[in-house]
Amino acid sequence: MFHQLVILIRRYINRLIKIPMPTLISGQGELKQCSLLLKKTACTHVFIVTDKTLTQLGITQQLIDYIEAEQLSYTVFDEVTPDPTISLIEHGVIQYQKNECDSVIALGGGSVMDCAKAIAACAVKNQSIIRLSGLFKIRKSLPTFIAIPTTAGTGSEATLVAVVTDPVKKQKFTVIDPSLVPHYAIMDPSLMIGLPAKITAETGIDALTHAIESYIGLHSTEQTRSYCIDAITRIFTYLPLAYNEGENLTARTEMSIASYYAGVAFTRTSIGYVHAIAHQLGGYYHIPHGLANAVLLPHVLAFSFDKAYKQYAKIAVQTGVAESCDSEKIAAEKFIDVIKSLNVTLNIQQSFSEINQEDISLLANRAIREAYCDYPVPKQMTVKECQDILLKVTS
Ligand SMILES: NC(=O)c1ccc[n+]([C@@H]2O[C@H](COP(=O)([O-])OP(=O)(O)OC[C@H]3O[C@@H](n4cnc5c(N)ncnc54)[C@H](O)[C@@H]3O)[C@@H](O)[C@H]2O)c1
Ligand SMILES: [Fe+2]
Repeated sequence: MFHQLVILIRRYINRLIKIPMPTLISGQGELKQCSLLLKKTACTHVFIVTDKTLTQLGITQQLIDYIEAEQLSYTVFDEVTPDPTISLIEHGVIQYQKNECDSVIALGGGSVMDCAKAIAACAVKNQSIIRLSGLFKIRKSLPTFIAIPTTAGTGSEATLVAVVTDPVKKQKFTVIDPSLVPHYAIMDPSLMIGLPAKITAETGIDALTHAIESYIGLHSTEQTRSYCIDAITRIFTYLPLAYNEGENLTARTEMSIASYYAGVAFTRTSIGYVHAIAHQLGGYYHIPHGLANAVLLPHVLAFSFDKAYKQYAKIAVQTGVAESCDSEKIAAEKFIDVIKSLNVTLNIQQSFSEINQEDISLLANRAIREAYCDYPVPKQMTVKECQDILLKVTS
């Protein structure tokens, strides 16, 4: 079949593409490193991209204090809202250029990091974000870029992707280029202690979905699988703890490491149908990305069971969810059951009242088109099968 051939060729080409990894600085209080990095790279005026919540929590000010202590100049752009749009990015580019910035700090969750990546890419290419949509349109280094995640989920601090929303089409699109991998990632768990439990849960399941879709996808390698097992093990152990005890720094640290390595893995191997469908729910109804993934994940895993149960079983045994003496099918079932129980523990809903029955056909068509030839899924889904999954998560 045509798509299988494309996936196979891509698998080969994919392994030849050099994808950088950010220089990782991790630990409580490491936020202070940001100004030293800017000095080291001779930056003169930094563009700080963040959002109003982080400003209200005083986290933006903590960053500014470090920048000012080194007498560096800066511009704050704290207008990012969840799922950054084309016009928000255009507005950011104008601010970046007007203030003659030469470096970027993204302080926030995936929305902030993706918005900052998009602004930097547009500034360096002098092009609109729409023109940069798709694969490898940037091919130019970004200005010094420091990502400081304040959620543990998207892994955007390690990925070559920026996800952008087109509110007119009510659809998300991606900009993919190795130059979008940040130069530095600072993971300071103390920035996450105020993250509400609900967002902790949803973003944590986003990281879990990255690791699972990467592991079971046809582009996985020995190394990416080992990153995924590491991430999944940490998430099973520490996500309930981070959810119940937001101030537990060990849980926050472990979740940020898990999110980072899941990001490193999927940036090499791509994602799957959970994401293809979640992107439609985000673009169309603005349903938070992690929440969409969490609700869809057990359904998509059940759909792929006959083709992917051996991989589920391997994950289950390696993460301690099943015994090595269990049959592969039993171990695989235990794996899906653990994910369902995790959703219950995290009080994740099972369906969405936002989905309208009359939108389902369009959403399914868009999801299948997004994945076609791009996502190396273990089992192909038809539009009808996708509609059935959407119906199951509609209330
Ligand atoms: N580039 C990638 O590789 C990648 C991967 C997955 C998802 N995404 C995209 O990332 C976006 C979602 O990012 P997200 O899940 O991190 O959520 P988000 O960035 O949209 O943030 C969600 C909410 O949490 C708040 N918040 C963030 N940090 C906080 C903190 N420390 N304390 C209190 N509140 C805080 C924000 O203000 C926001 O209201 C989506 O647009 C999704 O499509 C990108
Ligand atoms: Fe994701």
